[in-house]
Amino acid sequence: MSQVGRTQVAIVGAGPAGLLLGHLLHLRGIDSVVLERQSREHIERRIRAGVLEQGTVELLREVGLADRLLRERLVHRGLELLFDGEAHRVPLTELTGRELTIYGQHELVKDLVAARLATGRPLLFEAPAVALAGLDGTAPEVHYVHNARTHELRCDFVAGCDGFHGISRPSVPDGALTGYEREYPYAWLGVLAEAPPSSEELIYAHHDRGFALHSMRSPKLTRLYLQVAPDEDLAAWPDERIWDELRTRLARRSGFALADGPIVDKGVTALRSFVAEPLGHGRLFLAGDAAHIVPATGAKGLNLAVADVAVLAAAIGEWYSAGSSAALDAYSATCLERVWRVQHFSWWMTSMLHPSPDAFTRRLQLSQLRYLTTSTAAATSFAENYVGLPLSRPSSPQSSPHRGAPR
Ligand code: FAD
Ligand code: PHB
Repeated sequence: MSQVGRTQVAIVGAGPAGLLLGHLLHLRGIDSVVLERQSREHIERRIRAGVLEQGTVELLREVGLADRLLRERLVHRGLELLFDGEAHRVPLTELTGRELTIYGQHELVKDLVAARLATGRPLLFEAPAVALAGLDGTAPEVHYVHNARTHELRCDFVAGCDGFHGISRPSVPDGALTGYEREYPYAWLGVLAEAPPSSEELIYAHHDRGFALHSMRSPKLTRLYLQVAPDEDLAAWPDERIWDELRTRLARRSGFALADGPIVDKGVTALRSFVAEPLGHGRLFLAGDAAHIVPATGAKGLNLAVADVAVLAAAIGEWYSAGSSAALDAYSATCLERVWRVQHFSWWMTSMLHPSPDAFTRRLQLSQLRYLTTSTAAATSFAENYVGLPLSRPSSPQSSPHRGAPR
């Protein structure tokens, strides 16, 4: 027998999307249960994104989630594009008036988990959702397992924030969603190293041997990526090979000294573009990687997840406070506008920076890079996309708890 529970919004997945949604709903007095398949330790250690747009940081600050972030972050106002052995700085802030924040996603997740636990609202770890039911009606259910027991969570809405491999998107009836997808013939080998960053800014390198990226997490931690084959075997990459390859791909004619140190995390990440349309079905709303994936080259995935849940929280808030479903009805179309802009940018940046085996295409890539680094118009367009479009602002959260659903 399943144990039966009830909440207003069942949130599947405690990544940035699910945790932030829970917080934004909490501020509106809306109850939710967050279900997470993994343990707390696992999600707080998972090394992923690191670049936060100004709009993301502003939202986090407005809702009281940015105290540690603002103390510990690195602020970036430009980046370097390295090709033909020369680095070219793109002055992002000079061109757009906006800046970027470097702060590890797992650090943000720690802050979001702490904030959630402080509210006293439920966040269950090692509690995988195993089935969604009743999405077409007004009383959907999430079935999940926790402490070896099955549970049935009844709710008004389900927020599918369970990432690309979650169960929410596959729970939509056949034919109700269309997936648009592009795969790339390469992946990224990413490492986190206990070494001081060798540059103050990010370096995106187009090199004959493949793309490389120099990023960072703190004055003592460097994050680095190398383009590899999609089926690359990590065992073939002992640390010394990784450092050699990074030194080669990040070299420049004027000289470049790459500081190295112990590698504390190593993994291969696939590059993929994907969008599900619409972003939900019935009472299920998809947000973040559950709804769309971008290749990491544009540093957009986490920011897009935040943008989705800002819209979703406001729309759910409007349903409870004003009895209007207009914003929920518009949720998918509202988000898809940003999603497709970001899809294009991420695809374009990916295609430009991973050297093509085809000589003609490679010349086009280099021509694009030269244009980007010599034309203010081209650089401004790049910068505007890289720093991110302003977020559509959620309406002010209600301070008093909601006491009942609209009729
Ligand atoms: P996730 O973070 O994937 O969270 C989903 C959660 O759902 C997970 O915790 C998962 O365990 C849980 N879950 C899954 N199934 C179930 C289930 N059945 N029941 C309960 N829980 C479930 N983005 C950027 O913006 N900037 C960057 O610099 C950047 N760099 C990246 C670098 C790498 C190497 C990678 C891999 C990604 C990068 N991204 C970047 C993308 C970014 O990490 C993701 O877009 C982001 O994690 C999306 O958040 P999310 O909450 O939607 O999904
Ligand atoms: C990162 O720091 O992990 C990072 C930075 C920029 C990207 C992708 C990842 O484009």
